[in-house]
Amino acid sequence: MPADPFNPANRRLGVLISGRGSNLQALIDAIADGRLDATIVVVISNREDAAGLQRARAAGIETLVLSHRAFASRDDYDHALAVELRARDVGLVCLAGFMRLVGAQLIEAFPNGIVNIHPSLLPAFPGLEAQRQAVEHGVKVSGVTVHLVTAELDGGPIIIQRAVRVMPDDTTESLATRILEEEHRAYPEAVQTILEGGWRLEGRRFVPAKSPTSASA
Ligand code: GRF
Repeated sequence: MPADPFNPANRRLGVLISGRGSNLQALIDAIADGRLDATIVVVISNREDAAGLQRARAAGIETLVLSHRAFASRDDYDHALAVELRARDVGLVCLAGFMRLVGAQLIEAFPNGIVNIHPSLLPAFPGLEAQRQAVEHGVKVSGVTVHLVTAELDGGPIIIQRAVRVMPDDTTESLATRILEEEHRAYPEAVQTILEGGWRLEGRRFVPAKSPTSASA
């Protein structure tokens, strides 16, 4: 797959989901009320029962179900994803609860052009059930991270982080609920920051064009 330079100017998003799709909804809502200057051109799910597909359809966005089970290998699946995204001239791929590891075929098709949201302050608690990990570890602060996707699981350059206090009586569910509220604010902001361009990578540091206005780092 040829890798054209990432083109933030085209503002065409492809969103990958596996389930509920509340972060997809946050992107849809931010576009609708003008906080995010972009178009979601396709929502792709690896599961046909993902509730987020309904959210996309309700917003008039094209949906596609590509089941990983239909492909012999991760490479084949990631290649198929890349083909579908490139066919729609997607400039930025947004992972929104996409429960698949993203491999080289997709990463190389979108160099520094894939973004993910994770419910912890990375590098703490990568992987599954980050909120449960935080509660069980006993940290007093957790939060949300939006980052570029690299081959390292939940390890790419950090675009935005927001802190959420962990209360003594928090359960995994109550903490997840409060983190999710921050996710819905942080994800559109981070995507807008990427699309505005002017940022650069210094080593693994994402250096924005201008300082963020709020407490994000
Ligand atoms: C979110 O907590 C996100 O941070 C994580 O998966 C969850 C997806 O939720 N990657 P939703 O499908 O966006 O509601």
